[in-house]
Amino acid sequence: MVVKRYAHIIGTGSYVPEKILTNFDLEQMVDTSDEWITTRTGIKRRHIASKEVCSSDLSIAASRKAIAAAGIKASDIDLILLGTVTPDFPVPSTACIVQDKLGAVNAGVMDIVAACSGFVYGLSLAKAMVEASQYNNVLVIGVETLSKITNWEDRNTCVLFGDAAGAAIVHASEKPGGILGTYLKSDGSLAHLLSITAGGTRVPIDASNVNNGDRYLKMAGPEVYKNAVRTMTEAAFEVLKRTNLSSADIDLMISHQANIRIIESTARKINVPPEKVYINIQEYGNTSAASIPLALDEAIRTGRVKSGDIVLLVAFGGGLTWGSAIVEL
Ligand code: COA
Repeated sequence: MVVKRYAHIIGTGSYVPEKILTNFDLEQMVDTSDEWITTRTGIKRRHIASKEVCSSDLSIAASRKAIAAAGIKASDIDLILLGTVTPDFPVPSTACIVQDKLGAVNAGVMDIVAACSGFVYGLSLAKAMVEASQYNNVLVIGVETLSKITNWEDRNTCVLFGDAAGAAIVHASEKPGGILGTYLKSDGSLAHLLSITAGGTRVPIDASNVNNGDRYLKMAGPEVYKNAVRTMTEAAFEVLKRTNLSSADIDLMISHQANIRIIESTARKINVPPEKVYINIQEYGNTSAASIPLALDEAIRTGRVKSGDIVLLVAFGGGLTWGSAIVEL
């Protein structure tokens, strides 16, 4: 008889660099104000990595905490899935660097490039791999050092982003529950809304573009905003349908922390009341792939959620990509 396997999150961890950049600091750098940033985005401060600290470093710190919380050893991990758009190098993958430094000697690894949806994409893959009996302990990481691809002279973007990492161990179990369902989607026709146009093979960085801003993240803010609400609403309803649950069953909604107005508007559209919506954007800004695992780890460690609670994770990012997951903790 084939025993059904379920994919459970058994430990989480997160890490942010020490240095904090406040809205008041940004007032000294570009033409902006604490009042504008707070009312338009909900962000008060963000953490910024120092020059020598890269995504692998943040990932390792977050992963060690997740491994400890799960009560396993690094050598028990058989797969590492790392979502990022700010890898240490083009080659090798950041997941390879993390594998080596963690001592995860039995793990296969890969990076996932799905921008802010990277962690939810990783979680969805982890669930599938675990349930298909391939893997027993999958380390899923969402990490970003967006400060390194931010144009610090562009007030449209530089006030929004921060650096962080979050990690979760997805473990195979015969106990029902865990990651109950996921949903992934994309629309590459809207890629131009959020992109870095130089630095790949299509437009290599050379003397002609090194200083023109093309190697930094550019964004059409209001269009991104509208698509974020539309796609996260769709993703939430789809995963509720797939898991035969309703909004009333959700104990906590953790959406990608891009803008407090996007989060609140999405929650309203899917009928999740404010007290069941997790918001920490004021502390960290938009940390892209790291935002959901960072919030999940905080919610678990502060007791905002407990074993048995139903958590809705919903993400949106450049690509465009979007997705969702419902997890019974
Ligand atoms: N400080 C002060 N003024 C700023 C500013 C800043 N940091 N950034 C933009 N502005 C200005 C704009 O230049 C514009 O001025 P104008 O009317 O004279 O042209 C004005 O503020 C309004 O800009 P607008 O873009 O209409 O504001 P908004 O209410 O849409 O808020 C964002 C802008 C970027 C905060 C919002 O669109 C947003 O959050 N978008 C999604 C961002 C996101 O989530 N990105 C990542 C996706 S994962």
